[in-house]
Amino acid sequence: MAGRNFVFVPGPSNVPDRIIRSMAVQMEDHRSPKFPKLIKEIIPGLKKLYRTEHGTPFIFPSSGTGCWEAAITNTLSPGDKVLASNFGQFSYLWIDMCQRFGLDVQGLDVEWGTGIPIEQYADILRKDTGHQIKAVLACQNETATGVASDVAAVRKALDDAKHPALLFVDCVSSLGSIEFRFDDWGVDMAVSGSQKGLMLPPGLGILCASPKALALQSTAKLPRCYFDLKDMLATNPSGYFPYTPAIPLMYGLIESLKMIEEEGLDNIIARHHYLAAGARAAAIEGWGLKLCAKEPKWYSDTITAVMVPEGFNGADVIAQAYKRYNVSLGAGLSKVAGKLFRLGHLGDMNEVHLSAGIMGAEMAMLDCGIKVKPGSGLAAASEYWRKNPQPSGLAIR
Ligand SMILES: Cc1ncc(COP(=O)(O)O)c(C=O)c1O
Repeated sequence: MAGRNFVFVPGPSNVPDRIIRSMAVQMEDHRSPKFPKLIKEIIPGLKKLYRTEHGTPFIFPSSGTGCWEAAITNTLSPGDKVLASNFGQFSYLWIDMCQRFGLDVQGLDVEWGTGIPIEQYADILRKDTGHQIKAVLACQNETATGVASDVAAVRKALDDAKHPALLFVDCVSSLGSIEFRFDDWGVDMAVSGSQKGLMLPPGLGILCASPKALALQSTAKLPRCYFDLKDMLATNPSGYFPYTPAIPLMYGLIESLKMIEEEGLDNIIARHHYLAAGARAAAIEGWGLKLCAKEPKWYSDTITAVMVPEGFNGADVIAQAYKRYNVSLGAGLSKVAGKLFRLGHLGDMNEVHLSAGIMGAEMAMLDCGIKVKPGSGLAAASEYWRKNPQPSGLAIR
């Protein structure tokens, strides 16, 4: 088949050629005296990415879900109460994991297309004067619905209530793409993965833990083994791992952190906003469709989830885009299955690359009988991009 497959699933994201090349390495002895150089090159970059001085980053050969498990099991005990909210498949799955670990989850069901209910969190925390709630869960960017939530406001709710609960944040589809401030927001566990903003293949779970979270290891009674931070802490400081690390991915991570440093984190965040605004213009102004995110305050800068009109199936659009145009769009998951398609625009992306996703989605919609005006998506996106200042990092200078 000629041409390439354009990947717009919101992770795994596109891997730049530079990163692909950096991972083409021969295997080496991960217990050699030379090996510690690798982790020592990585940790400062990860700390910058998390914007933390006092947090400790960990790298697991896992996906993001493994780091959810690490966050929970290293800090909590069976029956501990946690406050969480369900507004999409990933925020739901984190709740499900907590329940499977025997935690007492106060899970707020909120409308999908909205995000963390800050007022409700604030109210519950204020009333919890006995401090029964041990951890508050915040999914910063709900990948299933393209909804971003305000983590700083969750921190404020905790502070206003003078509540000591831990703050756990899922930043799997936001780290390195949307503003994230580990120290400023007083985050205790921040969970991410390699295959989104870091522009790497899947395979690394990335976690950052606060000193307060790490201090709980001695009292946390949930069962843990593979994800026990104790084993990481016993080996990482000297540059080693408790088990075989994912060596090529770590070389890729070094290259990814170099690319992030070169473009600048603030510029990357601005670029994601600019590209996302173009994608939203395509959907709303161009096609005249609605987003899953109910209001602008929920708009995600990494994923645009576009609702298909009543009577049509988003899965048909996705299948057509893939089969006919070699464009991979993200599917609607669980409650929103068939109701939408998702356009991921995170990581290594520019205007013309994203235009392929807009174009592919538009042609597929037309083929499926959805009456959008041909060319309207690209017209609206390009109008936005041409009229707004281009963040540095895009044009060749
Ligand atoms: C917001 C969010 N949280 C958690 C996960 C789970 O991560 P993984 O698939 O890397 O285990 C994902 C995956 O897409 C996600 O988007």
